[in-house]
Amino acid sequence: PQPRPQSRPLPKAELHLHIEGTLEPELAFALAARNGVELPYRDTEELRAAYRFSDLQSFLDLYYGLMAVLRTAEDFTELADAYLARAAAQGVRHAEIFFDPQAHTARGVPLGTVVEGLGAALDRSEERHGVSTRLIMCFLRDESAESALATLEAARPYLDRITGVGLDSAEVGHPPAKFREVYEAAAALGLRRVAHAGEEGPAAYVREALDVLGVERIDHGLRSMEDPELVSRLVRDRVPLTLCPLSNVRLRAVDTLADHPLPSMLAAGLVVTVNSDDPAYFGGYVGDNFDAVRATLGLSPDQLRLLARNSFEASFLDDDEPRRAR
Ligand code: ADE
Ligand code: ZN
Repeated sequence: PQPRPQSRPLPKAELHLHIEGTLEPELAFALAARNGVELPYRDTEELRAAYRFSDLQSFLDLYYGLMAVLRTAEDFTELADAYLARAAAQGVRHAEIFFDPQAHTARGVPLGTVVEGLGAALDRSEERHGVSTRLIMCFLRDESAESALATLEAARPYLDRITGVGLDSAEVGHPPAKFREVYEAAAALGLRRVAHAGEEGPAAYVREALDVLGVERIDHGLRSMEDPELVSRLVRDRVPLTLCPLSNVRLRAVDTLADHPLPSMLAAGLVVTVNSDDPAYFGGYVGDNFDAVRATLGLSPDQLRLLARNSFEASFLDDDEPRRAR
């Protein structure tokens, strides 16, 4: 049974959200029709039926494939606007949004089209949805370090719209150190740094992201729990981990939601946050993730409030910016 949603959702920040992962089947078909793109699914039902993932790669194959429908700046604007409306309805007051430039430039969609399209939705987000935003550009770790460097170079004209860089896609076999140079260049440009680590990859990748890439937050970081010394360090340095519980279930990083380490991570004193990752694919937006962990893991109201407080602390909002939360 679906958990009963909270009548008045907790104000929160979402810090781990791939905008391409908010592409709902209905919008995918509408964009496919508009852009003359043929999809290998008869209808939204058949597409939804394909959302049975065995691991990260099986998801990524579908996720990158469906992006074929995103062609124009207007497509990206619509995508982001739809996400912001849904997120706002679930209590999100601030969103730090990932995008995957290489997944679009590889298909012949220019970086400027993507950034300007997303930017148009983000520019009016506070006014329209009451959600402040940041944009974080992710490098695909299964592509080369040279490609990441070229992507950073291509992004130079748009850096006024980009707060930071991240690292995503297939983790195992693509350790953080592969991207040392591009993270150094990003830091020199004044960009904030985050990276996915410890989703399917080992705790050692979490250490490496901190030591070699100088990241301020770890996306997922689930497998940090296998390394007690690392946990102590993350607690001591208050390094935030952006957890995505429903994603972890769907991609089989955990067996069931009841097995999720979130309660032990809270008990250990880690600065954890709850996020949706790719909500169109994993069964819910961030409020749905909160509802699910509340119902299944039995989190107390205090623990839920702590998760929401952590999300603002871990955000890239400046201290003097209004946190619409309180
Ligand atoms: N890209 C989109 N979602 C992702 C995830 N959960 N892990 C790695 N790369 C991703
Ligand atoms: Zn992610």
